[in-house]
Amino acid sequence: PADPQELLDLAIDLTARAGRLVRQTREEAITEVDTKSSSTDVVTAADKAAEKLVVDGLLAARPGDAVLGEESGSHDAPSAEVRWILDPIDGTVNYLYGLPAYAVSLAAEVAGEVVAGVVRNPVSGEVYTAVRGRGAYRDGVRLTGPRRTALEQALVATGFAYDRQRRARQAAVLAGLLPRVRDIRRIGAAALDLCFAAEGRLDAYYERGIQPWDHAAGALVATEAGLRVGGLRGAPAGRELVLAARPELFDTLHDLLVELGIDEV
Ligand code: IPD
Repeated sequence: PADPQELLDLAIDLTARAGRLVRQTREEAITEVDTKSSSTDVVTAADKAAEKLVVDGLLAARPGDAVLGEESGSHDAPSAEVRWILDPIDGTVNYLYGLPAYAVSLAAEVAGEVVAGVVRNPVSGEVYTAVRGRGAYRDGVRLTGPRRTALEQALVATGFAYDRQRRARQAAVLAGLLPRVRDIRRIGAAALDLCFAAEGRLDAYYERGIQPWDHAAGALVATEAGLRVGGLRGAPAGRELVLAARPELFDTLHDLLVELGIDEV
């Protein structure tokens, strides 16, 4: 069976190579920008090149594995034991503008469960890693999550869908939340939101409508740092909702988001 630590080591190596590539080619890559689901949903030449680098590297090292990538979709392997989940640049809009908050995110899933994950910010050089059951780390330092548990003291991050109608409704939920918490952040990279919560730079994070490649690795980092990561009404984290908070804060925030109509967004 696959050893999660070995999967993590491979992910650390490939995200380092992809991180260097996206950082070094930014000037040129941002001149080749396409849009995807809407005019706000962008993809650059670097997203595609970094995805290719990682997928090729994974399949060279472990030819039987499956890969789900944001830009190239599924590379299926019928009897794969491991499925990799890749976002070559999470926070592509930040990348486009040169805001230093984007990340390469890579997770390894075995039997439907994420067992290892890496989130790497190529600008700050910070690398977040986790292996299921063995804790979460930033550059080798163990992460233990935020300390605050009171809603009114919570610094809460969120993100918005690319669809403009959904954004209008998400803004309405946010308008109800803002007066109830310390403040709101919109970092622009879901993987970093989850890792920032894991290290206590944020108290909580929620978002509706995000994809597995946005949260797979970061959710493991947050979970291993002691946060509860879940979805709507007891469901696992997924498209409906990804919510990460200390267990003491989770239900309060979840119930408030439901009261504000998060499930209608
Ligand atoms: C996006 C970022 C953003 C979140 C969006 C994601 P991308 O990922 O994580 O913070 O609000 O929902 O799609 O498109 O930059 O990889």
